[in-house]
Amino acid sequence: MHNGTLYCQQSLDKRKKEGRLRRLQPKSEGIDFYSNDYLGLARNVEFQQILLKNVNDQPELLSGSTGSRLISGNSPVVLKTEEFVAEKHQFPAALLFPSGYNANLALFSAIPNRHDIIIVDEEIHRSVHDACRMSNAKKLKFRHNDLQDLEKVLQRQNGPCYIAIESLYSMEGDFAPILEIAELASQYGADLIVDEAHSFGILGYGMIEKYQLQDKVFAAVVTYGKALGTHGAAILCNESVKEYLVNFASPFIYTTSAQDFQWMSIKTGYEFLETHQDLNIRLQENIRIFRNQGLCSPSVDGSPVQAIIIPDNLKLKTLQNTLTDEGFLTYAVYSPTVKQGSERLRICLHSFNTEEEILKLTGIIKEFI
Ligand SMILES: Cc1ncc(COP(=O)(O)O)c(C=O)c1O
Repeated sequence: MHNGTLYCQQSLDKRKKEGRLRRLQPKSEGIDFYSNDYLGLARNVEFQQILLKNVNDQPELLSGSTGSRLISGNSPVVLKTEEFVAEKHQFPAALLFPSGYNANLALFSAIPNRHDIIIVDEEIHRSVHDACRMSNAKKLKFRHNDLQDLEKVLQRQNGPCYIAIESLYSMEGDFAPILEIAELASQYGADLIVDEAHSFGILGYGMIEKYQLQDKVFAAVVTYGKALGTHGAAILCNESVKEYLVNFASPFIYTTSAQDFQWMSIKTGYEFLETHQDLNIRLQENIRIFRNQGLCSPSVDGSPVQAIIIPDNLKLKTLQNTLTDEGFLTYAVYSPTVKQGSERLRICLHSFNTEEEILKLTGIIKEFI
């Protein structure tokens, strides 16, 4: 046996023994309380029909882009979409990526250098941690949403710092105290970077747009695989940062650009959201119904992600299986995705869930815990 295979097998056996083995399962039939399709755009027939019409009118949208954006892949569609996105978010510039993971890799790996410190919220998404490993900068953590701890970390630094936060945390279902963090960043001369993957489309185009903090952040990342029901991401920044990324960010440079279909879907998605604000109103109503059931959760009002902490892997698995048997699709999150002892059932609420579904789901959970 190859050494590599032996290593893989031993690691898998260990995970299995601990009850934490991940498996790819075919997508199940059931009521969706687990996807990031918060506004139901990925299943919205009207939206699909608009995309289809665009493709019928311009079938070349489906073709491969033929190269890196620095060679043959820089189509008019991607340029137009970037301009559109920057304007919507009121940033000087936007740079599109095929996914949020790639956008974070590009941003954090390329800009902070060996003399810099990246201070991340301990709950920051894995893509930021991976990006920090690709960077020459040093990474430090602060306790989740803890302003005092962040300030303590900032006080100890004497070089350039970046602060990395999410606006809505996808495992905890809580918001960052973004105004206070922006204030601290400015007080200590640190550059604030905000990942808006989960707040995009839920709080307007994200918290930065909602609170008009464009001048207070160094850069932001919005992603399109969640509330927009499509795929991709944008880094929002100023023109020099964009030009720097085009010159120095490997995840941007050394890859074939996505198809124009992806960029077109993003622009169409924004336009669709603008004329379908009722979807977010319905989502907010569903969040209220869920929250009114009084389940104990670290998550907050207004968040489409609601976590129920169950730090007993067997109990958590049993609850998830019970829910699946009743036709509810939920997601059980184990360590190392979350800290050991904080394993949880992650419920995602959507505009399309019904009151009856939410009441039945919460009823089962209540009986169980
Ligand atoms: C906070 C956060 N950032 C970035 C990403 C990565 O985005 P994408 O799924 O588009 O790669 C995710 C998605 O899992 C996320 O939750």
